[in-house]
Amino acid sequence: MATNGASQAVTTPAAIRLAGVSKHFGPVKANRSIDLTVREGSIHGLLGENGAGKSTLMKILFGMIRPDAGRIEIAGKDVNLRSSADALAHGIGMVQQHFSLIGKLTVAENLVLGRATTGFAARWVKSLDLESASRRAMELSERLGFGVDPSARCETLSVGARQKVEILKALWGGATTLVLDEPTAALSPPDAEELYTLLQNLQRDGTTIVLISHKMPEIMRLCDRVTVLRDGAVAGEAEIPRAFEDPADRHALEARLVRLMIGRNRPEVPSRSSHIWPTVLSVRNLSDGERFGPIDLDVHGGEILAVVGVEGNGQSQFVDLLIGLKKAAQGGIALDDIDITRMTTLERFQSGIAHIPEDRHRLAVADGMSVVDNASIGFIDGAPFAPTPFWLSRKRRARFAASIVKRNKVRASSIEAPVTSLSGGNQQKLVVGRELARAPRLMIAAQPTRGLDIGSTAAVHEALIGLRDQGGGVLLLSLDLTEVFTIADRIVVFRQGRIVGETSTAEADVDQIGRWMSGVDREAQA
Ligand SMILES: Nc1ncnc2c1ncn2[C@@H]1O[C@H](COP(=O)(O)OP(=O)(O)O)[C@@H](O)[C@H]1O
Ligand SMILES: [Mg+2]
Repeated sequence: MATNGASQAVTTPAAIRLAGVSKHFGPVKANRSIDLTVREGSIHGLLGENGAGKSTLMKILFGMIRPDAGRIEIAGKDVNLRSSADALAHGIGMVQQHFSLIGKLTVAENLVLGRATTGFAARWVKSLDLESASRRAMELSERLGFGVDPSARCETLSVGARQKVEILKALWGGATTLVLDEPTAALSPPDAEELYTLLQNLQRDGTTIVLISHKMPEIMRLCDRVTVLRDGAVAGEAEIPRAFEDPADRHALEARLVRLMIGRNRPEVPSRSSHIWPTVLSVRNLSDGERFGPIDLDVHGGEILAVVGVEGNGQSQFVDLLIGLKKAAQGGIALDDIDITRMTTLERFQSGIAHIPEDRHRLAVADGMSVVDNASIGFIDGAPFAPTPFWLSRKRRARFAASIVKRNKVRASSIEAPVTSLSGGNQQKLVVGRELARAPRLMIAAQPTRGLDIGSTAAVHEALIGLRDQGGGVLLLSLDLTEVFTIADRIVVFRQGRIVGETSTAEADVDQIGRWMSGVDREAQA
C-alpha cells in the first residue's frame, strides 16, 4: 500500500519540521501542539474546515505570528522567526489570501520593491534594478510557464495573473518553500487549471510547496501527502498515491479525509423541490445599453435557478441591474408582479430582494464594525427593530445578532468581536444568516460559497434550499459547476451578456454546458 511513500519519507529530508506549535487568541486555541513534517520537494496539503487553524499555523511558519510554544526547524536547523523577512531569508515564501501587490506599479516594479524597503531607498534601487528585474522576471516567467508580462501594471491584471505575480515575487525573494493559502478560492476554473500546472512545474523545478485548501479534488490531484487539521489540532495524515488502481480506494481515502476534517460523514443535501409556486422574478427584454442583454428570464418560487458562464460574461452586470446599482437602458424587472425597474436599491431590498454579494469585503461586511453591527446592517430602518430608534435598541440588536450567530453556527469569540476576527467562512455564514433573516422573496446569491470549506458550504446550501422550500426564489450565480449541480433546479448559461442555453439540472449534460459557456457549440457539432 503506502510502502512507497513510507520509504520515501525516510530517505527524503524534511524541508520543514514543526514540533509542538501552539497559539491562542484570547479564549480561542487556534493551534494546539501541532507536529508537521514537510518533505523536501513535495507538495504537502493542509486540509481543514474554516477556523481549523491552517492560516495561523502557516503565518507562524512565515514569521508573521509568534507561537506561544513549539519549535520550527527549516532544512534541519532550529530557527527563530521574528518577521516575514526572517522567514524569507530562510527560504520560506507565502502567498496570502489577500494580495499584497501595489496596483499602480508594474509587475517588475512590484518584484523589485518587494525587496527594497520604502521611500528614497526604494526609488533608488528601483531605477537601478528595473531593467534587469524585467529581464530576470521574463526568464523565470518563461522557464516556469507563468506567462505574465513584467511591464504590465498590476491593477490591469486578472485575479489569476496577479496571483502568479505574488508567486513570482516570493520566488524572486529567494523562496525555496512556497506556502499558498487557499490559492484557488477566487479563481475561475481555467485560471485554477493554469495554477495547478504552474505548481507542478515549480515542484519539478525543486520547490517545496505547502498547499492550504479545503477542496478535495485539488488535494487529491496535486498533493503527495496531506495533513488534516480540526479545531486547531492535527486530526490525521495520509499519503496520497499518484494513481489509484481501484477507484474505490480513491473514494475510501476521500471519505476518510472528509471524516477527519469535519469529524463526521459528509452532510446530506436535502432533495429537490417538487412544489410549483408562482413566478417571483420576471425579467423582460432587459439591457444595460452596453454589453449586457437584452435578456428574458423568470425565477419561480420554490426554484433555485443557476446562472453559469465563464467569469465576465454579464453575470455582475445582471446583478447590478437587478439590485439597482445600474440603470436599465431598456426592458423591465418585476418582483411578485410589482414593477421594480425604477426603484432605488433600498426600495428593492424593502420589496423583498436579498443579496449575498460576490465581493464580501467590498459590499457585505463592514470591516471596522462588530459582529452585532454587521448582523443588523439593512435592518436599521426596517423590521425587526422599528420603531425603536436603533441607538435605543442595542439590546434587541444584540439578541438578534446572537440568534443569527446561533442559528447559522457562526464561530465567533463574542458578538462584540470585530467581524474581521472571524474566518472567511464564518463571515459568510453571518452574511447569509442576515440576508435570510429578512425573509426575502428573491435571494440573489453570487458565488455564495467561494472560498468556504465543506461544512460552511453545506450550511449555505441548506439555507438556500430552505428558502426555496418555503416558496422563495433563488438566483444563484456560480462559477462552481459542482455547486450548481448539487443545488440548482434549472440552469441558464450566459455568454457575452446573453442567454445562450437553458436546461433543467436533471437533464443537464455537462459537456453541452461547457460548449455553451465557451461558444464552441457549432464547431463541436460540425
Ligand atoms: N488575529 C486573530 N485574532 C483572534 N482570533 C483569531 C485571529 N486569527 C485567527 N483567529 C481565530 O483562530 C482560529 C483559527 O483561524 P485560522 O487559522 O484563520 O483558520 P483557517 O485558516 O483554518 O480557516 C479561528 O477560530 C479564528 O477565528
Ligand atoms: Mg485560513
